[in-house]
Amino acid sequence: MKFEYFTDEEYQEAFDQFGGIRSEIADFVSKKHTGHVRTILDIPAGHGYHIAEFSKIYPKRRLVAVGLPSDLPSFRGLRNANESYQQLFRNLEYLSCDATELPLENCTCDLVVNFLGLEDIRMTKGERGVITALSEMVRILGREGTLQISLVEYGDLPEEKIADEVWKSIGLNAVFFPRDWFVEVMQEQNMVLQIEEVFFYPRKMTSRQAAEELEFACENAPRTFSVFGVSAIGFEELWDKFGERIDNHGMAYWSRIRVLLFKHEDDD
Ligand SMILES: C[S@@+](CC[C@H](N)C(=O)[O-])C[C@H]1O[C@@H](n2cnc3c(N)ncnc32)[C@H](O)[C@@H]1O
Repeated sequence: MKFEYFTDEEYQEAFDQFGGIRSEIADFVSKKHTGHVRTILDIPAGHGYHIAEFSKIYPKRRLVAVGLPSDLPSFRGLRNANESYQQLFRNLEYLSCDATELPLENCTCDLVVNFLGLEDIRMTKGERGVITALSEMVRILGREGTLQISLVEYGDLPEEKIADEVWKSIGLNAVFFPRDWFVEVMQEQNMVLQIEEVFFYPRKMTSRQAAEELEFACENAPRTFSVFGVSAIGFEELWDKFGERIDNHGMAYWSRIRVLLFKHEDDD
């Protein structure tokens, strides 16, 4: 796999567009899911980009975006950004709560989905929080439902190794657990892996773009998530450690998104 640098215009839109991967995942889930679909829950939904892709496929269903109260302004901002988002978001509900305590009845959702975010739950609530959030997702999933989770992996190319090391060193603890960890945790909840697929996004940031991204993460994440005691090392310290390698190779964005689809184990 060869990584291409983002142009500055592409970098500005990199998170919003994500190379169309959210749409590919929504398509993948809708083709693999076999039961009926009445309610879809995206958790954690952030701005709501991922659930918006499901709303294109299931426009008449109940579509719920779950996020912290601090995510609500971004969700509303995107919904009101222009007419096409207003249209796309018109049926989306926003449920403001912590992923570890969902105010929903058991077995009430047919699809529970996410696009990134489990690393952020680890940042705010630790490993125990991720396990609790996963068990909440399982609890609210109907017997015939599909649980779609996503995680990010990095390969052995220099720009990917740098990204992996940077996110592990920054101090936020916003790091994905590996695939097998999720499979094991799910097995403990009597969930069976149905199918998995990796979606590639072989793009990387220039040194300047990476500096912008990392400075933002070092300064903003501790502020936004101060109630959870989130902290990071200073940007200067991080750049002293990695700046030269990033200058030479660039830094991969979220390059490999692994999607896992789980179902409840058969009763018999
Ligand atoms: C990477 S974003 C989600 C991206 C989104 N799914 C998308 O498609 O763009 C992760 C979100 O998780 C939220 N988050 C972090 N800890 C959380 C928690 N304990 N409960 C609910 N949401 C949480 C953050 O506020 C952040 O908006």
